[in-house]
Amino acid sequence: MDGKLRDNDISHVVEADRAHVWHHLIQHAPWSGTDPKADPRIIVEGRGMRVWDQKGKEHLDGVSGGVWTVNVGYGRERIANAVRDQLIKLPYFAGSAGSIPGALFSEKLISKMPGMSRVYYTNSGSEANEKAFKMVRQIAHKRYGGKKHKILYRDRDYHGTTIACLSAGGQDQRNAQYGPYTPGFVRVPHCLEYRAQWDLEGEEYGIAAANAIEEVILAEGPDTIGALCLEPVTAGGGVITPPEGYWPRVQEICRKYDILLHIDEVVCGIGRTGTWFGYQHYGVEPDFVTMAKGVASGYAAIACCVTNERVFDMFKDDTTDPMNYFRDISTFGGCTAGPAAALENMAIIEEEDLLGNTVAMGDYMLDQLRALKDKHAVIGDVRGKGLFLGAELVADRATKEPMDEKRVQAVVADCMAQGVIIGATNRSIPGFNNTLCYSPALIATKDDINHLISATDAALTRVFG
Ligand SMILES: Cc1ncc(COP(=O)(O)O)c(C=O)c1O
Repeated sequence: MDGKLRDNDISHVVEADRAHVWHHLIQHAPWSGTDPKADPRIIVEGRGMRVWDQKGKEHLDGVSGGVWTVNVGYGRERIANAVRDQLIKLPYFAGSAGSIPGALFSEKLISKMPGMSRVYYTNSGSEANEKAFKMVRQIAHKRYGGKKHKILYRDRDYHGTTIACLSAGGQDQRNAQYGPYTPGFVRVPHCLEYRAQWDLEGEEYGIAAANAIEEVILAEGPDTIGALCLEPVTAGGGVITPPEGYWPRVQEICRKYDILLHIDEVVCGIGRTGTWFGYQHYGVEPDFVTMAKGVASGYAAIACCVTNERVFDMFKDDTTDPMNYFRDISTFGGCTAGPAAALENMAIIEEEDLLGNTVAMGDYMLDQLRALKDKHAVIGDVRGKGLFLGAELVADRATKEPMDEKRVQAVVADCMAQGVIIGATNRSIPGFNNTLCYSPALIATKDDINHLISATDAALTRVFG
């Protein structure tokens, strides 16, 4: 740490945090098994792959800021400088007008997304998804008398925290107690082959999982379905890579029934899986792509709902109708810090060939996790793409009985005590919060990965013997 905070300053920070900050996602009452006097964790500083907490303890960050975000790592002065210069020049103007970084970033982004053409700026992944949902609904009203308004989403996928996003949420524990939900969202089965729903393997399994979507479409009535919203690789639902054959069949089904394909790249977008976007591994041609976390690696808040020209055109086919455009605004979609940071972020990824590094280090890490699986019977499955990996823990390999969530969390806590931050699915899918998650920054080296693996190895040995 740079020593700017003296001990008494930091104890004041800790007390202020304890008294007033309502932390995201964690239990805020002391509950059994935890020390009620334990200090909240404050992360003070970061460099590269590492962060330091209020006690000056160094941690290797294996999850890019906790939730797959800081793709280019911490301490990138050129991003900070670009944002500073832009803020002095012009911090904000509403998105009904353009801005220099907004225009230049959209051009850069679209150059990496053949087939796509329009960028709608907003400020969180949830909101980007909401924009796509709203566009689908408006298209239904404009073209189909409101009928083709339903949006399909998949079991285990997550699309954000708002009520509409939870309505499209396939994680029952995330959703619980927040209903009633928005009508018009319909669930389709997940495609996790390890938890097979059909007695098939490989490509045949993938096709069956996609055909299950078609069955739902036929049951609901194809003329009622406007869009299908999927994560390319499911993130918080258990790091689910799609089986062979899945995506081509999904695309075919969407085309057959004139259903718009919305790909939620909030986690996979901007390099996480080794291509600019996750869908680009599978030759898919989406109508909507939403993205957030890695767009500016968390240096500024920015999210985008990107569409193809076909979707954009649907909003300007009748210029005599004053209601015939997307009547939406996102106040902070007009902030210029986001696209200024995002431009630098993409430049860093290109100049340092971080996509290449992600492929190489991702393959290396997958091999290391497989070796760990050979050693520890509690690892039932290892999966992932690029630097987006998971290890599913089981109580029994033969029956695949999921490991108890508390013991999975004990592995995470042991790593944390070793100064290594890894993640785990938690309070998402009843009975299946059993996957350890890894998403180091795209700058990760073999040494960093070895460190993540050896910490996990030690933790598994301590927790399970
Ligand atoms: C796949 C996916 N979509 C959407 C979101 C929501 O993004 P945000 O938290 O920025 O609203 C998340 C958040 O984790 C996510 O994982």
